[in-house]
Amino acid sequence: MTAALRIAALSRRFGGVVAVHDVDADVAPQEIIAVIGPNGAGKTTLFNLITGFLPPTSGNVYYHGQRITGWPASRIAALGVIRTFQNPLIFGETTVVENVMAGCHRWTRTGLLQAALALPAARREDRQVYDAAREALAVVGLEDREQDPARDLPFGQQRLLEIARALAARPTVLLLDEPTAGLSAPEARGLVALMRRLRDGGVTFVVIEHNMDVVMDAADRVIVLDYGEKIAEGPPQAVQRDRRVIAAYLGEEDAVPQAAGPAAAPTPETRP
Ligand SMILES: Nc1ncnc2c1ncn2[C@@H]1O[C@H](COP(=O)(O)OP(=O)(O)OP(=O)(O)O)[C@@H](O)[C@H]1O
Ligand SMILES: [Mg+2]
Repeated sequence: MTAALRIAALSRRFGGVVAVHDVDADVAPQEIIAVIGPNGAGKTTLFNLITGFLPPTSGNVYYHGQRITGWPASRIAALGVIRTFQNPLIFGETTVVENVMAGCHRWTRTGLLQAALALPAARREDRQVYDAAREALAVVGLEDREQDPARDLPFGQQRLLEIARALAARPTVLLLDEPTAGLSAPEARGLVALMRRLRDGGVTFVVIEHNMDVVMDAADRVIVLDYGEKIAEGPPQAVQRDRRVIAAYLGEEDAVPQAAGPAAAPTPETRP
């Protein structure tokens, strides 16, 4: 089967820093891949390279076998490769539902900026967009906040709002950058359940995640980055026992992070 996403010898340099170094990976359709690694490991940069927010220094990205390296972000998004940001991208002055309607531009003729700025008009013009946005809000449990200014939402709900916008785009591949950061434990569990449902409906996931409980629960496969390099890849349980992974997180090879309980989750802070 052709990979939904293939990255091949992908590298990105910033001056003297090699943020992503010669990374290869395949993501099968309807797989849920977790990307983990300490702070500065290159996870967000990898997303930027896949989604066209940054060009790679070298290497390639393929979507269902089609080379998309160097394509602008809008063209990659048009394929259905949709991402969220580590710091949620929210149009604070507009309402919650208008923020989500901005995601619908992938399948409507309304441009993103137009959608973001001229939404009351767009709403009148296109009931379908409004209904789709409301549906996406209901999926993440924000339907009651529809008419509130987006800036009034707490941080965790702004994340859910951004995810609703991504869903409204009808993604084929969804890349989420730390989606559970700022979420309560029940919200995080709800998000894992949602990812599973969407996967069953055909969506492929690549998720940067620091919460090891979420990783163990949600991921089919884990890719571990450290200093830009892929140091491990495999099922969550195997990766968790990998000595290089443990060393990357803890700086000592005999300390083993455990799945159960939040205290066991390797966090960026544990890096020496
Ligand atoms: N636009 C940029 N310009 C210069 N250096 C950058 C840029 N983006 C990232 N870097 C550097 O590349 C490296 C990888 O950063 P990146 O943000 O990809 O890490 P990360 O794994 O997402 O970390 P975190 O867990 O803190 O989000 C870091 O050394 C970072 O300082
Ligand atoms: Mg990051």
